Amino acid sequence: MENKNKKIALCPGSFDPITIGHMDIIQRASRLFDEVIVLVSVNANKNCTFTLQERVNMIKIATGELKNIRVESFEGLLADYVRENHVNVIVKGLRALSDFDYEFQMALANKTLNSDLETVFLTCNSEHMFLSSSLVRQIAQFGGDISDFVPDNIADIISNKWKTNKGGF
Ligand code: PNS
Repeated sequence: MENKNKKIALCPGSFDPITIGHMDIIQRASRLFDEVIVLVSVNANKNCTFTLQERVNMIKIATGELKNIRVESFEGLLADYVRENHVNVIVKGLRALSDFDYEFQMALANKTLNSDLETVFLTCNSEHMFLSSSLVRQIAQFGGDISDFVPDNIADIISNKWKTNKGGF
């Protein structure tokens, strides 16, 4: 299919680190769209534990089996990225009412910055309601078992971050 006819969606986030909740949203988006770009982006309110490159590498490993996924990083405004890359749908997962306020605010700000941009929300799987990257970090830094919360093939890489303080790559 020619690129201009493709339905491409963007799944942006900090992914510090990616969890099985994120994976569920990415997999479902990959069934709804021809191509999904997972974009590791900068959230100005967060100091991330993993570098941008480490997060990209982990997501590439975690999504390796999915054929229509591309993983990139971007240090700028999403509204600019979508304009430059001819993407006009952002897909985000919603866990609870508490996510809604924040996501609604970002969707409206993005729409104001770029009126062609649509944000689509997928409700999370009910089993992932409680799950977040910060919860994974809290468990991992004290040596806890994170295997139920993150993709199997990157669990050790995440845990090793606190053992070596250099990332597990
Ligand atoms: O996983 P997060 O931290 O909730 O994701 C938030 C993220 C990274 C998608 C958001 O902070 C973002 O879009 N950052 C890029 C810069 C930008 O466009 N900010 C303005 C959005 S209103």
